[in-house]
This record gives sequence, structure tokens and C-alpha cells, in this order.
Amino acid sequence: MTLSPPAVLDDDYDYMLAEPPDLLDRLRRLRETKPAAWVKTWGKPTVMFTSFDLVDAAFRDEETFPSAAFYAHTVTEVLGRNMQCMGGDEHRRHRALVSPFFRAKNVTAIVESFLEPVAHELIDRFQARGEANLVAEYTKLYPVKIILRLLGLPQTADEDVSRWAIGMLDIQNNFEQALRCSQEFMAFVRPILAERRVAPKDDLLSSLATEEFEGERLSDEAIFNFLRLLFPAGADTTYLGLGSAIFALLIHPEELARVRADLRGECRWAAEEALRWSPPVALQLRANPKDVVWNDIAIPGGTPLIFATLAANRDPAVFEDPDRFDVGRHPKAIATFGRGPHFCLGAHLARAEMDIALRILLERLPQLRLVDDPGARITASIVPVLRGPNRLPVRFD
Ligand code: HEM
Repeated sequence: MTLSPPAVLDDDYDYMLAEPPDLLDRLRRLRETKPAAWVKTWGKPTVMFTSFDLVDAAFRDEETFPSAAFYAHTVTEVLGRNMQCMGGDEHRRHRALVSPFFRAKNVTAIVESFLEPVAHELIDRFQARGEANLVAEYTKLYPVKIILRLLGLPQTADEDVSRWAIGMLDIQNNFEQALRCSQEFMAFVRPILAERRVAPKDDLLSSLATEEFEGERLSDEAIFNFLRLLFPAGADTTYLGLGSAIFALLIHPEELARVRADLRGECRWAAEEALRWSPPVALQLRANPKDVVWNDIAIPGGTPLIFATLAANRDPAVFEDPDRFDVGRHPKAIATFGRGPHFCLGAHLARAEMDIALRILLERLPQLRLVDDPGARITASIVPVLRGPNRLPVRFD
């Protein structure tokens, strides 16, 4: 059997060009009429899943849609071959070695020592001014600083490591520079890793250096590949998620009042609802390696796929009145962190980061409000598949 895409697509908008201005309406229409639809990415026919059930099933079906089929193309000398490019037993063993530090118990333990101080440190810089752009001054800086603290690298290197992290992400525009950043980053970490192998501390690097599973340890190369994945996977996503949570609260004053009435109890639910309402990875890209008929749709091998988490999280079959931002919703399951074997390793950490960053911001800035700015909105950010607020100009008393 040789399959081919249909001559006429269900929606011939190219989702990799730029975000369509009517994204939410388009996704709603597709979900209602054709939850597995033919659309376009990079000029190629692409299958997009938009219902919660299909997105959920597709994420879990690692055999049909292995993560590696898509991420293999991201492997270069800059980022190396990381766990997103692994499947089956190799992925299971690797994941067991990198996960202990990210378990809920450990994340709870680092709240006071890392998450709270970093939030305070950033707010100290602008509180006296009575106004700020929270994207540039808070949401963007916070997750990178947390990763740097977790790793346990010397704080004097913050600026260099941030520069290398940003440089490594710019592979498409400036490969030479991205490669240089990657090499400088590894040269910097190598001697510290060697020290942690013999004299471990309490940090993530030590956990990676010493963890054992089924008699195995991570090689230096595996650790470097994991570290270089942490910045794109853990910083950009959390930065956009935190921004969307702040934006959602500021444009829904009744929800903000509910949260302010019990900051310690409600900030985590505000974060969770924001993660549902506007997931940072709005459109998860994947690829279909072999010809397959899956849920009655014939998909040729080599077809790009989109798991539309944004559409899944607003599926009325699962979420009542799904477009409403409702902190009291307490959703049971959201598509935001993926599902199945590649479910986000940093989900506990991301939730804790957002909870704490929201609480401290609201505790310290009374009367926090958006400056009247009709252009401020949640939209595609960094790349067309990621979303968050473009800016957050605020005032406070
Ligand atoms: C709100 C913030 C975050 C969101 C929305 C998010 C989203 C996701 C999603 C959708 C996946 C699955 C990708 C796929 O199946 O192709 C994923 C995987 C992953 N995430 Fe996150 N993430 C967030 C924060 C973090 C943080 C803070 C870290 C670590 C510091 C992290 C580390 C990872 C890693 C290592 C993977 C790969 C797991 C694997 O392949 O087994 N993420 N994330």
C-alpha cells in the first residue's frame, strides 16, 4: 500500500509561516468538523489532531508516532542527541537516570531555597519604579535563572551561561555562533562535572553525575546532551506559561480577586488553568515515519504531524465552557505537558515555578494592573508553535 495526501487540504493555511489572526476560530472549526484534518506546514501536507481524545491518543502512541521520528532532525553538533530522540528501552533507562531530581518531593524541597529567592531578586530590581514590562523584566529571566541555580554552576558565570544558552538556540540563523556557544558551554561545565563525580553536592549536576540505574551511569556526553536540552525545553516554555498566567489574571479581574483572597491556595490553580487555557506549546510538532491508517485517517510515511494541544485543551467534550478562564475549574487532565512516555520531565518544576512566581508577584505588587496597550496579547512567540504574551506593561502601587 502506498498512501498519498489528498489533492485538496481541509485547511491550506501554512501553520509554520506565522500565526493566523483567527487561530482559535480555525482550530475550533477543525475540531468540530474534522478533528484529524489535512493542513500545511513548511509547504507540505500535514495532519493536525484537534480533539482532546485524538491528541491524547497520538501522544501516547509512541509506537506509531515515535518522538524520535521528529526530533532526530534536531540532532546536530550544537545540541547533541538527547532523550527526545530516544525510544523504547534506551529512553526508559535514560529517563530513569535523569528524573530523580525532577520528582515532586525534590521540587517541593527546593521551593524555599531557589524559587522564592529568585522571584524576590527580580522584583527588587523594578518594584520602586511603580511600573515594569513583566516579560522583559520578570517572566523571561526567571526560568533561566532557576535552571542556572538548579545546576549548581558558579553564580559568577550566570551571564556567560545565559549567553551560551541563547546562542545555542539560534542554530537556524547563525550555526557557527551556535556551535561556538555549545563548545564553550561544554568546556566550562566539563571540569565542574568531573569534580561532582568525585565530590557530589546537592545540585542537579551532581544528581546526573552519580545516579545509577540497572548498573549504569550517564556518560559525560549524555549529560551534556541533557543539559543542552534543558534551556529550550525548560526555560522558553515556562517563560511563556508564566506570562500567559499573569496576562490571563490581569484581563479577568474577578479571577484575580479570587486568587488575591487566598494567594497560597489559589496561585497554583491559576497557573494550572492558564496552562490549560493557553498552553505554551500550542502546536506540538511530530512526524509519521511509516504509512499507517490511524483512527480512520490514512497517513503516508514522512508526513509531518501537529498535535494541537491548544485545541485539545479547549475541547467542550472534556472541558465545560472551555474558552472561559476559570481558576476554580481544577482540570483533571490537560494536554499541555504531552502524554505517554515523553511526558514533560519538568512538569512538577514548571508548575511550582509558576505558582511561586505568581504568588510573590501578587504579594509584593498591590493594585497590579495592565497599562492600556491594545497591542499586548497572547500570540506566537519565538517560533510559530509556541505562544505567550508579546509584552506585559504594568503599573502597581
Ligand atoms: C510550562 C512549562 C513547560 C511546558 C508547557 C512543557 C511542555 C513539554 C511538552 C509538551 C513535552 C513533550 C514533548 C513531546 O512529546 O514531543 C515536554 C517534554 C520535556 N520537557 Fe517540558 N515543558 C515545560 C517545562 C519544562 C521544564 C521546567 C523542564 C526542565 C527544566 C522541562 C523538561 C522537559 C524534558 C527534558 C522533556 C523531554 C522528556 C522526554 O523526552 O522524555 N520542561 N515538555
